Amino acid sequence: DTFTPCRVIGFDNEGSSRIHESSNLDQLQKCIAQRLKSKRFLLVLDDIWKCSSEDEWKCLLSPFTKGEARGSVVIVTTRFPYIAQMVKTTNMIELQGLEHNEFFAFFEACIFADCKPEIYVDDLIDIAKEISMKLKGFPLAAKTVRRLLKKNLSQECWI
Ligand SMILES: *[C@@H]1O[C@H](CO)[C@@H](O)[C@H](O)[C@H]1NC(C)=O
Repeated sequence: DTFTPCRVIGFDNEGSSRIHESSNLDQLQKCIAQRLKSKRFLLVLDDIWKCSSEDEWKCLLSPFTKGEARGSVVIVTTRFPYIAQMVKTTNMIELQGLEHNEFFAFFEACIFADCKPEIYVDDLIDIAKEISMKLKGFPLAAKTVRRLLKKNLSQECWI
């Protein structure tokens, strides 16, 4: 009862959706299990922040373990090692930030696509390198900061 599910959306063969709405976890799980009964699926659970016990995990996953089809896969991403330890069924892969030069190229491309303005090359590139160091190789951080930097190409603002 720590989950707060609201609805399951199913797509039929014509691509139109049918929505199954319920706040009852048991009912929702039955609905999911029914829909996946003979299907092979890929389930991505991205950026899991909390899972207090193995029982909770098993409960969450239970509708996905009742199928008849083989070869389904669940991918979990999390920033918390204890969660990875708890849910893993194969070796976990620890993602690192990008290597520095690669990341800087990506960072620049985020801001300017292919075309770096002169003002950047003349005045801003050193500041950009410092900013890039602070982002520690994380692409999502680069994309977030890009929005701020693009708005105003002044040294004052970038500093
Ligand atoms: C850019 O930022 C600087 C410093 O914060 C500010 O003085 C300037 O007015 C800004 N320029 C524009 C076009 O917003």
